[in-house]
Amino acid sequence: MTKTAQSKEKSTRAVALDRFGGPETLKIQELPLPEIGPDEILIRVQAAGVGAWDPFEREGGFVGILNREPRFPYVLGTDGAGTIAEVGENMNRLKVGDRVYALELGNPKGGFYAEYAAVNGNNVSLIPGDLTVEQAGVMPSDALTALRGLDDVLRLQTDESVMIFGASGGIGHLAVQLAKRLGARVFAVASGKDGVAFVKRLGADAVVDGRGDDVLKIAREFAPNGIDAALVTAGGEETDRALSAIRVDGRVAHPNGVMPEPKPSTKVRIDAYDGDGGREAIDKLNRLIEAGPFEVHVDRTFSLEEVAKAHAALTEHHLGKIALKIA
Ligand SMILES: NC(=O)c1ccc[n+]([C@@H]2O[C@H](COP(=O)([O-])OP(=O)(O)OC[C@H]3O[C@@H](n4cnc5c(N)ncnc54)[C@H](OP(=O)(O)O)[C@@H]3O)[C@@H](O)[C@H]2O)c1
Repeated sequence: MTKTAQSKEKSTRAVALDRFGGPETLKIQELPLPEIGPDEILIRVQAAGVGAWDPFEREGGFVGILNREPRFPYVLGTDGAGTIAEVGENMNRLKVGDRVYALELGNPKGGFYAEYAAVNGNNVSLIPGDLTVEQAGVMPSDALTALRGLDDVLRLQTDESVMIFGASGGIGHLAVQLAKRLGARVFAVASGKDGVAFVKRLGADAVVDGRGDDVLKIAREFAPNGIDAALVTAGGEETDRALSAIRVDGRVAHPNGVMPEPKPSTKVRIDAYDGDGGREAIDKLNRLIEAGPFEVHVDRTFSLEEVAKAHAALTEHHLGKIALKIA
């Protein structure tokens, strides 16, 4: 028997695609409420994250990668938060009414650009620390990608130095805070004067403007023997030049999707990876967030009706994340 909130609706308003394509495919539709299985949770969504990868998914870019037939109407949205409306019979960890956040890429039951989303219960957590629903809704994929990069891929050790390239962006601003919490010395490369001021506030040991400063020179002053590792979230000539500051036999990691792919000129190990969650990683993230003040920065918030503007805003300079406010 599933446990259900009294006020559950019969249908859900969602941004749903009838086919993959440009922003014109983003349409508000009234869809049947997704049914949950025994291991799933139905979330009444209040906020969804707009991911840097959402336009790629909207265009059908994940079809080959996820290796499953897309189902239309197709609801985008990997990240979201809200309150639990219904829990499957095997889900004892959480209950109706809990404030939660969750993530699921290419969810066959539909994503978070909707009033309701049915999600695998393993991907659902109570909102940690002092985060608001909106902050929790935009955070999961980027936070887990940051943590996986620092912890599993770079295997960052206490007192090591790390460069975060793209430090004022979605993954970057979370990576700066997580790397500090893992005990590293953080050299952050942010975008613009506003990006530098923002990332200084997040506690990086040194912050430079990757759009204007001589990053390599300042990085060599920061670590004369070279920086131990780098997490790269934006590619290009400036990135490759900055990576010359990584020490010989150092490590560089970047999530798949960073284009152009970083090409360091020094002899370093380079790994491309995906930010897969998994319960262990999610629990670790929640513990790290609860260890002290943690900022998830929402730069701009749009309504469901304004979703095309939200996608356009991804290509404009912004700090942190972009959100959809749903309820
Ligand atoms: N494979 C996975 O599991 C996975 C998961 C999440 C994300 N991703 C991918 O990872 C990439 C980054 O994601 P994100 O959410 O962090 O994107 P994002 O929010 O756009 O962050 C990238 C940041 O890099 C900054 N930047 C670009 N050039 C710079 C430079 N020369 N100096 C300093 N900063 C610079 C951008 O600043 P401005 O544009 O404001 O100048 C932006 O803030 C995307 O390609 C995304 O699709 C992959």
